[in-house]
Amino acid sequence: MNRAFATPLLLFISSVVIYSACSNSKVVDTPSDTPYFPKVKAIITANCISCHQPGGQGMPLFFTSDSSIVANAALIKAAVIDPVSPRNKRMPLGSSLLPADTTIIGRWFAKGGKATD
Ligand code: HEC
Repeated sequence: MNRAFATPLLLFISSVVIYSACSNSKVVDTPSDTPYFPKVKAIITANCISCHQPGGQGMPLFFTSDSSIVANAALIKAAVIDPVSPRNKRMPLGSSLLPADTTIIGRWFAKGGKATD
């Protein structure tokens, strides 16, 4: 194999190796035993309930109690993490959460999405 070909090939292979090493680190990231829910509730209180409260523009969904957050866990996770579609708007409306916050919501949902998770 001549060097003009081998060098780009080696670069390509090493970038694939580095890329897969990085993406694997996310997969082995296991949920912690400490409940995520208190943080999830704080994120939602700070970013969502200005609209998602009785009488707010996000009605009929409101997230003002633990039980209302838990009951809507799948919708909340979809609205902040899943791909946007006509039926799944990115929330908060007109913006998005910080990656650190979506990570916490994603882990909470993966753990079970309950008030004890
Ligand atoms: C500025 C007001 C506002 C804020 C802040 C906001 N929402 Fe919304 N939300 C809306 C409105 C308005 C709708 C209805 C959208 C529609 O159907 O067109 C909605 C709809 C939703 C829905 C229904 C499904 C969908 O995606 O349309 C979910 C779930 C949701 N919001 C979750 C959240 C979460 C979680 C947050 C905080 C991270 C949040 N919202 C922050 C206004 C808001």
